[in-house]
Amino acid sequence: MSKHIHLEARPADSSRRAFCVQACQAASCVALAALADACGGGGTGPSNVPQLSTVNGTVSGSTVQVQIDSASPLAAVGGAALVRSSAGVFLVARTGDASFTALTSTCTHEECAITGFDGGDYVCPCHGSRFTTSGRVVNGPASAPLRMFNASFSNNVLTIG
Ligand code: FES
Repeated sequence: MSKHIHLEARPADSSRRAFCVQACQAASCVALAALADACGGGGTGPSNVPQLSTVNGTVSGSTVQVQIDSASPLAAVGGAALVRSSAGVFLVARTGDASFTALTSTCTHEECAITGFDGGDYVCPCHGSRFTTSGRVVNGPASAPLRMFNASFSNNVLTIG
């Protein structure tokens, strides 16, 4: 008997799920179309932008520490990475032998997580804003710079914050 009820319930469940999937797909299509329109020619969401590698950071007091060894994407000057930690995610670039920049990875436009790095600039996946490794806006739609944190380097350990 319970089997009978189960069989009746199942089509309703799966059609509801199917409806949700379709609705979500339609919504994202509409959202993407709206974004493409809103951005015009200058700020469409980028495609084929190289993605940053991820490095884990460890929270120590009020700072985040990152060990940088020879295999790290931050081993060479010009390298950049996303540093993930329980205190947040940072965009980190090596700008000199012992100099680094550390920025928030949250875009100042609509708070997407920035994950792209192209031609020495960070690129937001949502609407294509570009920022220098110092956080300055190169291309909008974002107009405000990315927040910068202190970054110091010693004994192969980068300390953020
Ligand atoms: S959220 Fe729009 S460009 Fe980053």
